[in-house]
Amino acid sequence: GTPARAGDAGVELTIDGTTVAVPPGTSVMRAAAQAGCEVPKLCATDSLEAFGSCRLCVVEIDGARGTPASCTTPVAPGMVVRTQTEKLGRLRRGVMELYISDHPLDCLTCSANGDCELQDMAGVTGLREVRYGSGVDAGANHMDLLTDTSNPYFEFDPAKCILCSRCVRACDEVQGTLALTIEGRGFDSKVSPGAGGTFMESDCVSCGACVQACPTATLQEKTVVELGMPTRSVITTCAYCGVGCSFKAE
Ligand code: FES
Repeated sequence: GTPARAGDAGVELTIDGTTVAVPPGTSVMRAAAQAGCEVPKLCATDSLEAFGSCRLCVVEIDGARGTPASCTTPVAPGMVVRTQTEKLGRLRRGVMELYISDHPLDCLTCSANGDCELQDMAGVTGLREVRYGSGVDAGANHMDLLTDTSNPYFEFDPAKCILCSRCVRACDEVQGTLALTIEGRGFDSKVSPGAGGTFMESDCVSCGACVQACPTATLQEKTVVELGMPTRSVITTCAYCGVGCSFKAE
């Protein structure tokens, strides 16, 4: 959605009973945040263009058909939005069940344990069981593909990818490199650097924007894979690019 600008709060709407005024073009998700309502999300971030692929951010809007994604729906005057209902909870848990059924079940030994948005969303949505199984036993996708370790700074494990496209969009929108793409269709889709090659063979400039954008351990710094999560980190932005380098310390 469009970032809010001071003095441009023109559209009034009600979200979970709270009335807010936001600039025209603002997404319902951003307006909800302004009203103090956190809508669950996986593919949206504060800095990337909305994509609308994960369907976790669905909301109810009076008069609207179905349950639209709040990240791609712009506000309208007088809108009445609900972000937390029993039906929405059910829908979100259903989405999370599908994600987890297509994901390795190694959270406790995963390098992103405790710093994984998929794990967070499982908690937020109250997921307690996965009816379809998970990991290799459930036939999870891309478990047979090798981790791409070609880049000196980070690794890419396709088995943990949820296809949110945040890395692809970060490469494009933050770095302007277009080294990543989603190749294939349906269940076969996968993030790919170049035409099926490795990161080192692609146009990747190792800026790290994709690693910072990844919500899971799919793209992970090698230091984190080897040493585990740092206990503190400092993010700095220099004049050369807008990525915001993350210096981490034990
Ligand atoms: Fe809106 Fe993913 S956050 S569809």
